[in-house]
Amino acid sequence: MTTSLNQAIVSDIGVNTVYLNGEFLRPELAMISPFDRGFIFGDGVYEVIPVFGGRLFRLPHHLQRLHGSLAAIDLAPPLSAEQWRQALQRLVDEAGGGDQSLYLQVTRGVAPRNHAFPKNIKPTVFAYTQKKAFAAKNTQQSGAAVITAADIRWLRCDIKSTSLLAAVMLREQAERAGAIEAILIRDGLVTEGAASNIFLVRDSVLITPPKGQFILPGITRDLVLELAHKHAIAVQERNVKEGELSQAHEVWITSSTNEIKPVGSINGIAVIGTPGPMYQQMYDLYERYKQSVREGRAE
Ligand SMILES: Cc1ncc(COP(=O)(O)O)c(C=O)c1O
Repeated sequence: MTTSLNQAIVSDIGVNTVYLNGEFLRPELAMISPFDRGFIFGDGVYEVIPVFGGRLFRLPHHLQRLHGSLAAIDLAPPLSAEQWRQALQRLVDEAGGGDQSLYLQVTRGVAPRNHAFPKNIKPTVFAYTQKKAFAAKNTQQSGAAVITAADIRWLRCDIKSTSLLAAVMLREQAERAGAIEAILIRDGLVTEGAASNIFLVRDSVLITPPKGQFILPGITRDLVLELAHKHAIAVQERNVKEGELSQAHEVWITSSTNEIKPVGSINGIAVIGTPGPMYQQMYDLYERYKQSVREGRAE
């Protein structure tokens, strides 16, 4: 039964091999206990890593964030950076290179149900990758519809936790409103999207909320800021009031999955400048950076 259920999912997403606790397996043979704390409590952390031309994008940054998330929940890293690199690259190679999206999660492991951390259990490590066609520029140019919603998440949004119930509910709310993302508001301030970071452009200044407990430190966000600094684009990392959204000349969201996506409307009201000149410039810089990763000149 489990095997046939697995098989249906596997043929849906086209995954040939998964990594589970040190083994490379056909996905239908990967078994995880229902007593795993990831299943029972959402007691785990994860990463989504893009792959361009068979190369893992910004891997050191993703591993650093992963190890930060693990430290925050008091879990020792189950693999060293080099072991991660080898295991993940093998998955990428076995999937045939090209462009992919790799998912990896670490949960606290299997134990009788009791909230506090059990002693002496082994974490469960699971990873898989799938081919992905990242959006081309012409489809990105129209601008995505988003809504705003109250940020109902907890106070440790800096941890990339697999406990994603709030994000799941917010994304569903967005989808029911015909939008692709919910931009979250906490105490009158814009934090981020349910699964993305946010940038505003106003008078040629690129503005984004600061890192801290209220947002996930996005790897794409970091790269956008790095490219902006390198190319003398004025940047402000500061609190953003909800009212600034409707005053912005451009709004973008960023994530490993969506890359840099211009926002065309917020709650049904058009963002006038989308897609604007700053987006065009950053999109080109980002694409050039991706090309350097494909060619092995950057990571
Ligand atoms: C809440 C949240 N913020 C931001 C991001 C973007 O992070 P990254 O650019 O590392 O994908 C994500 C990605 O899933 C996210 O879930």
